[in-house]
Amino acid sequence: MKIYKAKDYNDMSRKAANILSAQVIMKPDAVLGLATGSTPLGAYSQLVEWYKKGDIDFSLVTTVNLDEYKGLTKDNPQSYYRFMCENFFDHINIDKKNVNIPDGTQENSDIECERYNNVIRSVGGIDMQLLGIGGNGHIGFNEPGCAFETETHCVKLTESTINANSRFFDTIDEVPKEAYTMGIKSIMQAKKILLIASGENKAKALYEAICGPVTPKNQASILQLHNDVTIVADEAALALMKYV
Ligand code: GLP
Repeated sequence: MKIYKAKDYNDMSRKAANILSAQVIMKPDAVLGLATGSTPLGAYSQLVEWYKKGDIDFSLVTTVNLDEYKGLTKDNPQSYYRFMCENFFDHINIDKKNVNIPDGTQENSDIECERYNNVIRSVGGIDMQLLGIGGNGHIGFNEPGCAFETETHCVKLTESTINANSRFFDTIDEVPKEAYTMGIKSIMQAKKILLIASGENKAKALYEAICGPVTPKNQASILQLHNDVTIVADEAALALMKYV
């Protein structure tokens, strides 16, 4: 596990964008696993800036996103599909045919989960998976207690995640109660993992993920067993790590 300490959110975003862009430069047809949330926004906007300057080309890149709220259509302002388009895909030259996100409108979870697992297999697996981390250690929407062996599955969101994500909705009642998420097994099969974190509200979860026991109580702790993990986090998120 390599850990890079960034000064602040902007520095974290630039460092993460550099790592993602190196992946695309070295493998123009890379499969990128992407994440939503506020943490990756700075990295996405940095990549857009470099694309506009002509420094990076996404025309051959394929993406697979971690998760999507169940019940939201693609054009719902709070859907992760819309989030990815507004913050990234609409500003770069990615071919939308190569963009993959779970389909929140598929009511039958078994059908959607099997479809998405097949998507991940059919693109040949993920070269680099970008991850944020929830305040309770969740990655994707794999909440504390989820079995590590799962592939894509439908989860009931915990109260803490519903509360945390309610900031994007008008009222808390509008936050969907379920989501489709890539499972830990799918995430662990990515060749490389890049986890980013910013802010003191992530410090405990990040510390436990890196230094604590590997336990489903902190889903990110499983990353200790992956052989190519890079963590880029700012000083506030690394506040409990004395020796980084
Ligand atoms: C959401 C997403 C995660 C994300 C996490 C942290 O629940 N499903 O993929 O990593 O929240 O979000 P943020 O980056 O806004 O702190």
